[in-house]
Amino acid sequence: RVPEPQILTIFGASGDLTHRKLIPALYQMRLDRRLPPEITIVGVARRDWSHEYFREHSKQGIEEFGNGIQDETAWNEFAKGLYYCSGDIDKPESYQKLKAFLGELDTERRTMGNRVFYLSVAPNFFPEAIKQLGSAGMLNDPQKHRLVIEKPFGRDLSSARVLNRVVRQHCQEQQVYRIDHYLGKETVQNLLVLRFANAIFEPLWNRNYIDHIQITVAETVGVEDRAGYYESAGALRDMIQNHLMQVFCLTAMEPPNSLDADSIRTEKVKVLEATRLADVNNLNRSAIRGQYQSGWMKGEQIPGYREEPGVAPGSVTSSFVAMKFMVDNWRWKDVPFYLRTGKRLPKKVSEIAVQFKEVPWLIFQSASRQANPNVLTFQIYPNEGISLQFEAKMPGADLRTRTENMDFNYQEAFGVKSSDAYDRLLIDCMLGDQTLFTRSDEVEEAWRIVTPALSDWEANTDPNSISLYEAGTWGPLAAEDLINDDGRKWHRS
Ligand code: BG6
Repeated sequence: RVPEPQILTIFGASGDLTHRKLIPALYQMRLDRRLPPEITIVGVARRDWSHEYFREHSKQGIEEFGNGIQDETAWNEFAKGLYYCSGDIDKPESYQKLKAFLGELDTERRTMGNRVFYLSVAPNFFPEAIKQLGSAGMLNDPQKHRLVIEKPFGRDLSSARVLNRVVRQHCQEQQVYRIDHYLGKETVQNLLVLRFANAIFEPLWNRNYIDHIQITVAETVGVEDRAGYYESAGALRDMIQNHLMQVFCLTAMEPPNSLDADSIRTEKVKVLEATRLADVNNLNRSAIRGQYQSGWMKGEQIPGYREEPGVAPGSVTSSFVAMKFMVDNWRWKDVPFYLRTGKRLPKKVSEIAVQFKEVPWLIFQSASRQANPNVLTFQIYPNEGISLQFEAKMPGADLRTRTENMDFNYQEAFGVKSSDAYDRLLIDCMLGDQTLFTRSDEVEEAWRIVTPALSDWEANTDPNSISLYEAGTWGPLAAEDLINDDGRKWHRS
């Protein structure tokens, strides 16, 4: 389905997300004819850019971060629909100017009053932007006006509640699209298909057969040039509370009644409500934060986090977080979920590993080694796919076993690269489908779960209170202890 003609207004048009992800995704979608020719994009930011400059800047972004221009005629057509409108997020006159401009564009580009406002600005500006859009009457048509809010949604439970209140004052929940790009990734959606379109997994998907589940999102990059944002966010707000917890929800939730947005979101909220940090009285056993020190990666010396530009010398911002969750319900009682994410780790890898219990009695006692338990891995990055680890007999007279894998690779199976997560989500929003966006109660529950760790870390600003790890290693030792103390270990893919 191709959405109706509309104007997408991006606040934060001079930022990285717009340049690297949004514009390249929009252009590719237009090339693939998934967007109508009338699609109109208005960039808003404080800088005094011209339409022409914004078009040139966007072109560079497509060339550097997207699939390139490919077709000059198509580019020229697309560029005609790109506009720039400078403005200050806290000045009512900026919104009046924007409103008048959108009105003119509506007539010129025949966009029928359909508007999406995308807030790709620093999170502390969200409430102000929503208030101003609301007061300017730009959100008052629930059928035609939509609001996309980037993550993190708030910086803790109370600010998320305040933000939800502001949202409710100015628009209806059906107009709000809280974006989490992990929900746009194919393998993440494949989790639902694998679990609920196949009969063999669901009977095993519980405490009777599963020993524990690990969710890992490891990155090789450091803070890059984002210290301004990252210093006040850290890995918990940047990754755990949103991306990893969304993946967690889809792994752990009960089967929804249908694919309807609220049916799925209600199940996600239910599982979050049953979830807690493993031991809030002893955070060392349920929440570890770490920060990278200088180290070597691929033969290059990497500066430590505190030496990065824009980072305070005694910063205790975490670039790594590992957590252990327990879910108090019939399905998951006593099954730990270990989540970890970090920057400057040895490999970029995102995966969910579902480790099954060991066989009750191993008859191959004489085999030269212990059998490994079955592990079902969902690979989100690289090589999107699914892999099942099992034991097989090695050829020969001796009864020796070896661990092997059955692999499903998305690209090999379907002959296409999976599309960028932002494509899918932008289209869904323009079509009015909220399934892959988070609901207000979901975001608040996710904050509630991490609050004990967040409060403790916020209160503890002693530079020695954070565990350090060398860049290019798998995080601090404390994160190894978190899982090793339970007699388990992190998977190394
Ligand atoms: C973003 C975070 O939301 O996700 C970044 O702000 C992180 O810090 C990025 O690098 C990771 O996304 P992906 O799709 O590359 O795994």
